[in-house]
Formats: sequence, C-alpha cells, structure tokens
Amino acid sequence: MAKSDVSKLALLGGRPAVDRPAPAWPVTGDLEVAWMEGVVRSGKWSWLGPHERAFCEEFASFIGARHAMLLANGTVTIQVALQAVGVRPGDEVIVPGLTWTATMQAALDIGANVVLVDIDPETYCIDPAAVEAAITPRTKAVVPVHLYGCMCDMDALTDIAKRHNLKIVEDVAHQHGSRWRGRGAGALGDAASFSFQQSKVLTCGEGGAVTCNDDAVFETAFCLKHVGWMPDLQTRGNRYGHNYRGTEMQAVLLRGGLRRIGEQLRIREENAHLLAEGFQEIGGAIRVARRDPRVTRQSYYALTLHFDKAKAGGLDRAQYVAALAAEGLPLSPTYAPVYRNPLLNLYHEASPVPFRETVPQDYANLRIPVTERVAEEEGLVLMHMHLLGERAYIEQLLAAARKVQDHLPELAKHFAQEASGEQEAS
Ligand SMILES: Cc1ncc(COP(=O)(O)O)c(C=O)c1O
Repeated sequence: MAKSDVSKLALLGGRPAVDRPAPAWPVTGDLEVAWMEGVVRSGKWSWLGPHERAFCEEFASFIGARHAMLLANGTVTIQVALQAVGVRPGDEVIVPGLTWTATMQAALDIGANVVLVDIDPETYCIDPAAVEAAITPRTKAVVPVHLYGCMCDMDALTDIAKRHNLKIVEDVAHQHGSRWRGRGAGALGDAASFSFQQSKVLTCGEGGAVTCNDDAVFETAFCLKHVGWMPDLQTRGNRYGHNYRGTEMQAVLLRGGLRRIGEQLRIREENAHLLAEGFQEIGGAIRVARRDPRVTRQSYYALTLHFDKAKAGGLDRAQYVAALAAEGLPLSPTYAPVYRNPLLNLYHEASPVPFRETVPQDYANLRIPVTERVAEEEGLVLMHMHLLGERAYIEQLLAAARKVQDHLPELAKHFAQEASGEQEAS
C-alpha cells in the first residue's frame, strides 16, 4: 500500500506531520520501586515516616521556603493555607476568574466569600489592577494562581497586599520550581499551596503541599492537617484540625520526582524557547505568551498560547485546533471561567460546606471580559509532557503548525463543506 503523503493535510487523509508518540508522563525509576518495597515491608506508612520527613525538607529547600508539609491533595492545601494565614468565615478572598474550580471551592469550603476578578491578557494570570479595584473592608486575602506557563506579577501583588494589609496565598499547582527574581514560587507570599495530582510536573498521583516561611503559620497549618497535633507530634495544638495527611508511599514518589525535576525544568524551558521562536517565525495564528523578564526560571505545567483569529484564514479556534491535532500537535483550550463551572450550579443548602444565602457576586450572571475572551476565543495550552520531547519531536510539532498555516484556504473549504453537509442533513 502506498504511504500517504505528508504534504497533504492529515485531516484530509494525508500523513500527520508528527510521526512519533508524545513523551510519557509520569516518569519514575528503580529508586522509587526500591524505596516503595522498603516502605511496604516497614509497616510505617503514615504519620511522618522517614520519607515524608525527608521529602518535606527536600521540597522546602527546592522551593526556597522555610517550611513544607505534605497533604492529601492540592485542594485541602488551599483551605489549610488560607485558614493558617487567618482567613475566617465571612472574610472576602480574591481569586482569578480563570483557574481550576478548586481554587474557588477551597475558599468557599472554609466559609470565606470569593470575589472573582479578571486576568492579565498576556499571561492569563490574575490582574493586579483588578485585585486592587475589588478590595473592600472585608477583604482578607488574595490567591495569585501562577497559571499554566506564566507567573503572576508578584511585585505588584506584594505592593497591593502591603498597602491594604492583605495576606497572599499563592496557588502553585502549576509551577513547581518557577522563580520570580530568583525567589521560588511558593515562598513569595504568606503561605502557598501545591498540587501533586497525576498531571502535575511533580506528582504522586494525588497529593499536595503547603509551604510558608513563618513558624506560627507552619504550626497552625500543621494542626489543621494533622487533627490538631503540633509538628513534634507530642503536643496538642490550639486548632480544630482535620485528617488531611499524606503517606509514605506518596513521599517516595515525590522524592524520586524531585531528583529529576531540575533537569526536566531545564529541558522544558529550552523547548518552550524553541517553540516560541518557531511559532514566531511561522507567523501564524498561534504564538507563545511573552515571558516576563522578572521570571528567572519558568516551570511549565503547560505552555501558554494565544490564538489570533485574524491570522487563521477564517477558521475558528476549534477548527484550527482540530487541524493541528490531526497533524499531531495537541493543543487544548484553557479552563472555562471558574464561575461557569457546572459544579457551582450544585452549590445550595444541601452542599456539605458552610452555605450562605448571600455571596458578594452573582456567579451565575457574572461576565469578566478578559477571562471570557481567553476561555472562549483566544486561550490555548500545550501540556508539559510535550515540552520534554527531543529536538526532532519539537521540530515536528512546529512542522505541524507550519503545515496547517500553509493550508488555510483548503481547511476553510473543508470546514465550509462539512458545515453545509451538516445543514443539509438536519
Ligand atoms: C490551579 C489549581 N489549583 C488547585 C488544584 C487542585 O489540586 P488537586 O487536584 O490536587 O486537589 C488544581 C488541580 O488541578 C489546579 O490546577
């Protein structure tokens, strides 16, 4: 059988530009297997075993924070971090309109009121001016989410927090290892939350960490996650705590991951740079978000991309993405605006969280302009495992982008025919 032609669009039966599989994720090795066997045989599976203690030290040092603790996931970490810095029921917490629902849920679940604000059009991270405009006498904290492949403007946010006496709780679920002016994300505010869920750049399937620099915040956070015990595990603290503990098995996987993350960060940064240059050279509808020079190391949960409809030859974002995916370049849209998440429709008095009749915003009817534009038209991401590919793989991803851009009239015709076929059928 004749091999199909790579110059022909894959969507029309040609050979895809990318001829190899995407790099696998997660990555593990023999060290974790050996450690895991030791843990299984030891019978010490929880309550600050040797791996958990070692991980907390290693992770704190990796981030450049004074303290780190392991928790069950990256949602309870936000609850604990917010409570540990003093957020109480009825306080307002400012959260970006574009993030995973957990950022908002965590604040709601501890009885805080969430005020959603707009994002920066370049980085898709929280817009400091929008934060400042949303401050009321009830505002207690702001949650900067370092989203996908860009960091929040921590200079502006720190300045606002100081002037208005607000706490900063960073959500670092996407940015293990990013640095702002040489300082680690997760060590820049009053406390921070990390997720180690399966898709993250440091993972143990499910898990999370709280990091902070303040001893009192650390002790309170520890009590909150460890049923009221202090970090020495001998003394009762003064807080009503829950069981949000992690396990030795999680710590083993995370310690293995920490041994690789430095090199993985380097490869991702290098490939992100190649892709940014490559997309620019192609001059098509996709470009990589500009990197803020104050970001001295960028960890990429995903590469943040902009889609420009004016350069897409009449294709919309979904059509353009479908053509790229057929060629082997799999881009995804961003999260939906957090206030559109269907989960929030289920929030009523039967919900297992402190319910309140009045909230500061009418979430169902909220419209936050940049958040909406990014989520619906402009935002795209390339997940981090693709950034671990070898040079030849990265070049093929760019070849896929170039091929689609070079065939726009053909694609426009294809989608027009498809649409008229659907119309006739209906
Ligand atoms: C920005 C953000 N915050 C919080 C979380 C919650 O983390 P977890 O899934 O570990 O609870 C996620 C998870 O995807 C996330 O992307």
